[in-house]
Amino acid sequence: MRLAGEVRPPGDKSISHRCALLALVANGHSEITGISKGGDVNSTLGLVEALGAVVAEINGRVVIDSKGVQEPRKILDVGNSGTLLRLATGMLAGYQGHFVLSGDESVNSRPMDRIIEPLTVMGANITGRSGNKLAPIAIRGTSLSGREFKGLPASAQVKSAILLAGLRADSPTSVTEVIPTRPHTEEMLKEVGVDVDIVDQVGSTRITIHPNPSIQAKSWKVPTDPSQAAFFIVGALISAKSEVLIKDVLVHETRIGFLEVLKRMGADVELRMQSDSVADIYASSSTLRATDIGGDEIPSVIDELPILAIAAARAEGTSRITGADELRIKESDRIATSMAMLRAFGVNAEELQDGMVITGSDRPFKSAIVETKFDHRIAMSAAIGSSVSAGEVEIRDASSVDTSYPGFLSVLLDLAE
Ligand code: S3P
Repeated sequence: MRLAGEVRPPGDKSISHRCALLALVANGHSEITGISKGGDVNSTLGLVEALGAVVAEINGRVVIDSKGVQEPRKILDVGNSGTLLRLATGMLAGYQGHFVLSGDESVNSRPMDRIIEPLTVMGANITGRSGNKLAPIAIRGTSLSGREFKGLPASAQVKSAILLAGLRADSPTSVTEVIPTRPHTEEMLKEVGVDVDIVDQVGSTRITIHPNPSIQAKSWKVPTDPSQAAFFIVGALISAKSEVLIKDVLVHETRIGFLEVLKRMGADVELRMQSDSVADIYASSSTLRATDIGGDEIPSVIDELPILAIAAARAEGTSRITGADELRIKESDRIATSMAMLRAFGVNAEELQDGMVITGSDRPFKSAIVETKFDHRIAMSAAIGSSVSAGEVEIRDASSVDTSYPGFLSVLLDLAE
């Protein structure tokens, strides 16, 4: 199969969640252009409404009018989104009121102690199922104290939950990270007038938020999600005589580690910068060679490892992904689901506790049934894998794609010739 054409995937999911949550906390009128239309961000808009804001869509823009957080009359449903659950918990911990958050089976089995514990250190009153480890989560909003955190998991969600709680604390709160994770929360907080210090130290970065309970409302423009662009890029690289152009992609360095990995593998990819942080990305058929992925690079590729596994399966030689234990606690256990996908395609792959060893080949993938465990990124990776398959590929529970990219499969078919 050949892929050719131009595509503009949805707005970045991480930034979309944050735009909507900051619009709720701000008193006033916010507008968001290019917000992700996936189920995850719809859950965020639903939560923002349940907390008292008025949300409308006008001429393709999402408009949010907020009078600040109101105590909700119902359980806050986060759907499939762990990002929403973790960020909203931090954000709400310092508001007066009673908040209960719950999601689907996958979200409610993902670890929440990683945020409940530090938030509790700040004085938050949060309980969760299974000894405060899992959702449903109940928050009894209370006053919070600023604290200093070090040694947390390398997770933007954990950092963000703490920084958002810090908005309403009585003194500054800081998080020191040794391995950089996406800095969208701290950068966006700065944009709405919050005093945030980001200080690079030897071997770490310290982010300090100064409390600010009344942030400014703002208009936001959300660039294309690099994590969605990654599927088309790998699709073009591994398919014969292909070339795609992905429009207006966020190319923040913490989000495009996958491009560095692909370049190391010999990929023909080119960034055509449109502004400081946005580029059109061109990719064309390439002969790939194996690489190792691990260490400090992992947070910058964390969401793209399943599709990088497909790239590794088409590369010459053996690739090793290590230090990626966090994959075990994503929407599915993504080491297990990626391994099952690779094996179904007939790829020679070995499972590690913290990664995978994948030996590539240019033999076509086998006809396969791929069990996705309702994980959108596995379903989309399998769809790209199907473009180099000799036979039919059945992707089970592919409706999960709608959580991040409704219409992905038809866009892919439109590109295919
Ligand atoms: C996200 C951070 C990442 C990423 C997730 C979105 C965010 O999770 O996997 O899809 O928006 O902060 P972790 O930071 O927990 O690894």
